[in-house]
Amino acid sequence: MDAKEYLKKTSALMDGPIKTYIPDEEPMRLIEASRQYPYAGGKRMRPAMVLAACGAVGGDKTKAMPLAAAIEYIHNFTLIHDDYMDGDDMRRGMKTIHVAYDMPTSILAGDALFAKAFQIIAELDVPSDKMREILKFVSKAVWDLARGQQFDIENEHKLVSEERYTETIFLKTSVLFAAAAAGGALCGGADEKTVDAINKYALDMGLGFQMFDDYLGVAGDSSKTGKSVGNDLRKGKCTLMVTYTLENLKDEAKLAKFKSVLNNMEATDAEVREAMEIMREIGAIAYNKKAAEDKIASAKAYLDILPPSEDKDFMIALADYAINRDV
Ligand code: IPE
Ligand code: IPE
Ligand code: MG
Ligand code: MG
Repeated sequence: MDAKEYLKKTSALMDGPIKTYIPDEEPMRLIEASRQYPYAGGKRMRPAMVLAACGAVGGDKTKAMPLAAAIEYIHNFTLIHDDYMDGDDMRRGMKTIHVAYDMPTSILAGDALFAKAFQIIAELDVPSDKMREILKFVSKAVWDLARGQQFDIENEHKLVSEERYTETIFLKTSVLFAAAAAGGALCGGADEKTVDAINKYALDMGLGFQMFDDYLGVAGDSSKTGKSVGNDLRKGKCTLMVTYTLENLKDEAKLAKFKSVLNNMEATDAEVREAMEIMREIGAIAYNKKAAEDKIASAKAYLDILPPSEDKDFMIALADYAINRDV
């Protein structure tokens, strides 16, 4: 199955519903700022995950559509705040919210999307025991995501262990994928054991996804990713690739060159590329790639519990796509 094509189809399916939840209201500046990311749309992997998990357990996907929109709103809220925190000026090929508007508007637009998501969830057409479980998953995910984002910031300008890195990306990225998948399965009426397996699948998938995302963050083509490239290095974000390089690079001159790019917001694109080449030579890129592949293999194994279906095939393909993409 071609995950990219399937994603395009679900994304088109989500386009209408996603635009129904934010009515015109004053002040329009806030409304416009909160609409920018959800309306532009990214890959929409999380909503696709909600729908696929619901379908894969035999549920009615139309009942999961509002949850899919809510999860995307939460994701978009975290992106707005993340871009401000990371000082990035481009996302989805457009100016980020704090740049296009201003810092206060970006905080409020994020808050507004966060609130809207829970309003949508409160109106889901699911039995109340499932609703409670969904709320537990989603609210815990946002809490953990905040912890992960704080770790991410505290990890800057530091050499952090692989364990700390993994914990950080688990919290900042995996938990929302997992809330999407488990939430979708709950909407579909899945039993506890199945929800647990689907949750674990998404947690591991999220780890692989973020490792690959870190790679795209230094080696990607910003005309494709629609995001700023190189700032992770300039900000001294301690990704697995950076940790590996700092721990293994013995050539003094190269190490000095590498360190001159880290923590240096003035580093040029050419210098970032040089740092990237140093990481490649030392094997840091390959190390990160292998780690991501291992997580994806482990993620897919959890899906053995599911009967064959197109949705299951998509979940498998989506895991592979997480580490094979240019966007
Ligand atoms: C970006 O997520 C934020 C991370 C967790 C790395 P996506 O790569 O899914 O972003 P969009 O939604 O496609 O823009
Ligand atoms: C974003 O992480 C994760 C969130 C929880 C929003 P990054 O900061 O690594 O992702 P990009 O590169 O800005 O999308
Ligand atoms: Mg960021
Ligand atoms: Mg960030």
